[in-house]
Amino acid sequence: MSLVAVGACYVDTILTTPRYPGEDEKLRATNISHRRGGNCPNSLEVLQQLVAQSSPAAQVPLNLVTILPARSSVASRQIRDAFEPNVSLDHCIYREEFEEPASSYIIKSQSTGSRTIVNYNELPEMTLDEFVHAISIIKPRPAWFHFEGRVPDVTLTCVRHIRDRFPGAIISVEVEKPGRPGLQGLAVEADVVFYSKGWAQGNGYDSAQECVRKESSLTSNTSLLCCTWGQDGAVALETKSGDIIHSPAYTPLGLQVVDTIGAGDTFIAGMLYGLICKKDTWTLSQKLNMANRLAGTKVAQEGFGGLGHVVVECS
Ligand code: FRU
Repeated sequence: MSLVAVGACYVDTILTTPRYPGEDEKLRATNISHRRGGNCPNSLEVLQQLVAQSSPAAQVPLNLVTILPARSSVASRQIRDAFEPNVSLDHCIYREEFEEPASSYIIKSQSTGSRTIVNYNELPEMTLDEFVHAISIIKPRPAWFHFEGRVPDVTLTCVRHIRDRFPGAIISVEVEKPGRPGLQGLAVEADVVFYSKGWAQGNGYDSAQECVRKESSLTSNTSLLCCTWGQDGAVALETKSGDIIHSPAYTPLGLQVVDTIGAGDTFIAGMLYGLICKKDTWTLSQKLNMANRLAGTKVAQEGFGGLGHVVVECS
């Protein structure tokens, strides 16, 4: 069984500022850093560390399907080097006429811990034909597809293709961006859905519980709905039993918020690990607690390195 994650890859430029600037203000940043970003790539960076802690029998080949600039561009080479051999980028789609990757400019406010993201992406999005070609040659046959939920109408056709050609494969979808039309339609077709707090609030929900409860009444195929809620932790609803499980945020004494960029992506990595690698050996509550702890640990450090120990502590 292998996992295929489908989503955009960014290069993040992160400015740390003492507070969030006002419009038209000049403000001096205290730090600048650059790193590879994007929801699926961030999740895979964490997931590969978790998988590395698993027994050989539970190893899952990881694949990223994303759009990159020209194969020989500096950005594409750096992105491949950062991932391979643990995550295969063999099925990426290259836009040969572009040299620049998708870019995000992120203001990380030290006073609140917020991260405000402005991004720019001129790379043409993936088409259904490109997706069909990319996944047709992945070995071993993919058993789990995770989508960022970017271009919902195209993603929906990709999901239907998977249902047709890979019956039995499990499909998870991230529903993150508030105001992006079509995400609900996509969630209806998925087996597992990850909702963000921003999306839930944008749709009028006051809590993660309310989001998963009401959204589950709109979905028929879905077996698991998860929603993260920052300091209030995360919830998961299993549709078979109707049970909603809550896990409080992981905030050990003295924990300082250092970097919230990609906390949601880290949570998803934890859940995917639990669902794919631990299956019935962990309860849903164990999976949710581990994913929460992973996200809480990540928030207290820069970037995504060195997170594999969390799975060992939770085993
Ligand atoms: C964090 C992140 C960044 C990226 C942006 C894309 O979740 O994936 O790494 O630049 O979001 O929306």
